Amino acid sequence: MPLIRPMCLEDLTEITYWEPILFGLSAWSREDYEQEMTENPFSHYFIAEVDGRIAGYLGVYLAYEHAEILTLATIPDYQRQGIARSLLHHAFDLARQAGCQVMSLEVRQSNQRAIALYQSEGFARVAVRKNYYADHEHADLMIKEMRENG
Ligand SMILES: CC(C)(COP(=O)(O)OP(=O)(O)OC[C@H]1O[C@@H](n2cnc3c(N)ncnc32)[C@H](O)[C@@H]1OP(=O)(O)O)[C@@H](O)C(=O)NCCC(=O)NCCS
Repeated sequence: MPLIRPMCLEDLTEITYWEPILFGLSAWSREDYEQEMTENPFSHYFIAEVDGRIAGYLGVYLAYEHAEILTLATIPDYQRQGIARSLLHHAFDLARQAGCQVMSLEVRQSNQRAIALYQSEGFARVAVRKNYYADHEHADLMIKEMRENG
């Protein structure tokens, strides 16, 4: 089980090294992260640590009844070890504590491993956002209802 802790500005050198490797053209810059972390009170960012090293990270937006996964990634050496699932569970706990009724996210239609993860965690596709990404790939909009133990 990873240790999950809030992301801090000191983490951004490593995070922004991995961003283009994990997200290609959709990578966020240091400025994107800094702005989100310091100016958006609804956004919360977390690190999953294994043996003191960054293994994954997640951003979640919590506002009134709505939660949204903003980003989720696992560093390649740590993939397929349950890191992303642990981060998602942390986001579910926070969303329930904040009284959110529903959690949403967008995912590239080609990202089958992420879609498999989200489906296994109770998300269902409710809409397609056409040309959502800069390279014009469509996104699936997925929703999960935040019941007590769902
Ligand atoms: C998608 C991603 C976050 C998964 O992270 P992870 O820590 O490896 O995922 P987990 O180990 O928690 O796996 C949970 C489930 O996801 C699915 N999954 C993850 N990797 C998979 C793969 N390579 N092939 C098929 N299914 C996969 C499986 O359902 C898996 O459950 P299982 O291991 O019990 O079969 C990771 O591959 C990643 O960072 N990708 C690049 C960034 C990205 O696409 N982020 C999502 C944006 S929406």
